[in-house]
Amino acid sequence: MESRKIKHRKQLNEGPFSEPKTLVTFSEPKSIISEQYNTIRTNINFMLSDQQNKKILITSATPGEGKSTIASNLALVFAKEGKRVLIVDADLRKPTLHSTFEIENRFGLSNTLTKKVSYTESMKETFIYGLYVLPSGPVPLNPSELLASKAMDLLIKSIEHFFDIVIFDAPPLLPVTDSQILANKCNGTILVINSGHVNRADVLKAKNILKTSQANILGVILNNYDLPNDHYYYGRYK
Ligand SMILES: Nc1ncnc2c1ncn2[C@@H]1O[C@H](COP(=O)(O)OP(=O)(O)OP(=O)(O)O)[C@@H](O)[C@H]1O
Ligand SMILES: [Mg+2]
Repeated sequence: MESRKIKHRKQLNEGPFSEPKTLVTFSEPKSIISEQYNTIRTNINFMLSDQQNKKILITSATPGEGKSTIASNLALVFAKEGKRVLIVDADLRKPTLHSTFEIENRFGLSNTLTKKVSYTESMKETFIYGLYVLPSGPVPLNPSELLASKAMDLLIKSIEHFFDIVIFDAPPLLPVTDSQILANKCNGTILVINSGHVNRADVLKAKNILKTSQANILGVILNNYDLPNDHYYYGRYK
């Protein structure tokens, strides 16, 4: 399994306007962290080079491992490469992308799937050229059923052709089935592992769940990993 290590550090809200603090690839595009996102982007491009409309699920074994942060920054580096990118907040239980990208969440995935609104009204262009967000919409009572519905398949079919890449931010694998449902609809799945936070047994359980749903596991991203001070990156870029 391919693995990449990401070490974030606390962000400052600097710059011409107060950009969302989780978007390190926007606020510090030349940082080591942003370079690591670029490397992950290159790997994904290679691994899915035969897919015109790439659909990628970002998930993790347990809550709070950094899925939404990583999904948002990955979407951003793909857009910076000139790609048309959609990031979907498929975490209908604990959505965050609307606040990361500072857009309203009145219309989104949930009420698009229940046909209360069209996807063109739900999708929002962000402040990054080429990057669109489909926020979660109001939190529904039945997230798994909505994600497994025919309406979800039809929605993906309708929108995927507008984009080079669609990234799904999803809930964790162990507590709920939502990611398992989505993995099957994507060409690739990336498992985020927060080092020091999640135990090996849970990671293995998550991997087995993905295998059961016939997910194409592209690799893992090791988040929050402390690089040693004499690491190659520091030596080269300090
Ligand atoms: N490498 C990191 N270093 C420091 N803080 C981080 C790092 N990765 C994520 N965070 C912070 O940890 C918190 C949880 O991250 P995030 O929301 O991306 O996780 P998640 O996996 O999407 O959580 P959930 O399962 O609740 O959806 C956020 O406040 C985020 O800014
Ligand atoms: Mg999240």
